[in-house]
Amino acid sequence: MSEIDLTTKIGNLALKNPIILASGTAGYGYELEKYINFNEIGGFVSKGIYFDPRKGNDSPRIYETPCGMLNAIGLQGIGVKRFRDEIIPFWEKYDTVFGVNVAGETEDEYVKVVEYLEREKRVDFFEINLSCPNVHEGGKSPSWDSQKTFSIIKEIKKISKKHIMAKLSPNVTYIEEIAKAAEEAGADSISLVNTFVGMAVDIKTKKPQIKNVFGGVSGPAIKPMALALVFKVFKSVKIPIVGMGGISSAGDILEFIISGASAIEIGTATIVDPRASLKMLKQLKDLMRALNHKNIKDLIGSIITGG
Ligand SMILES: Cc1cc2nc3c(=O)[nH]c(=O)nc-3n(C[C@H](O)[C@H](O)[C@H](O)COP(=O)(O)O)c2cc1C
Repeated sequence: MSEIDLTTKIGNLALKNPIILASGTAGYGYELEKYINFNEIGGFVSKGIYFDPRKGNDSPRIYETPCGMLNAIGLQGIGVKRFRDEIIPFWEKYDTVFGVNVAGETEDEYVKVVEYLEREKRVDFFEINLSCPNVHEGGKSPSWDSQKTFSIIKEIKKISKKHIMAKLSPNVTYIEEIAKAAEEAGADSISLVNTFVGMAVDIKTKKPQIKNVFGGVSGPAIKPMALALVFKVFKSVKIPIVGMGGISSAGDILEFIISGASAIEIGTATIVDPRASLKMLKQLKDLMRALNHKNIKDLIGSIITGG
């Protein structure tokens, strides 16, 4: 039987298969090296990088919830200098598509991070994490506001020739508007969703289970909401979409692809099992065969509604 074609494209990025490891759940890469071969995976996104190193929030900062988890890591990171000197040489050993998840406390910081890493050939794209709290805006995240989203993407596009992926927050009323603002500003693609705001309480101590009180919910619990947001955005923009949120099986991957995603990211599933992405890759080939599909590109946005 002929081979299944899992290759896909996100604009100018050509991927061997649609599976990308999501930011913050696979470290900088080397942490997973003994479990998976990056040459087999479609793509990889780094942990969010601010310009300077950060120690992140105090513990407890993760907590397991039904069908998912809460995290408030607070974007702990090594900063751009160490990232360039220590991580990029590691990435150079592998042949996959690598993205840097860009963080910023201000609009200027996002631009500075991109500027610093722009000339690194091994960085194929920047995924702009628009969910970072802005220090001058009372902690509001730019992805809650279409103008802020527009302005950050526009400034980054002025100084970068690389593929710019705008990563959106699900914690908004009207995601289509934010997605359109990112597209108008020149984003090459949109990835969604980041985590949903959540909390949990210890009923004995009456204290929140997360020191920061609020955390981000991820994992299978968020999948139906994430899928709905991906489909809404698919209907409102022309640029490619990378979908994520609770993916834990090959069937989940196909649901996102059929609903409009050109590729997908796997997050929390890697924390549960570091080999989850490669297991899903194998399952995906078997599932495509069982469903008589030869080419994953034919399935992108193939959803049939209203019939
Ligand atoms: C522990 C943890 C850390 C994360 N760190 C980041 C980050 O640095 N930048 C970012 O854009 N998203 C971050 N995320 C969000 C994930 O990339 C992803 O958008 C989200 O978890 C939904 O996918 P999932 O349900 O497959 O995990 C983090 C998620 C978790 C669980």
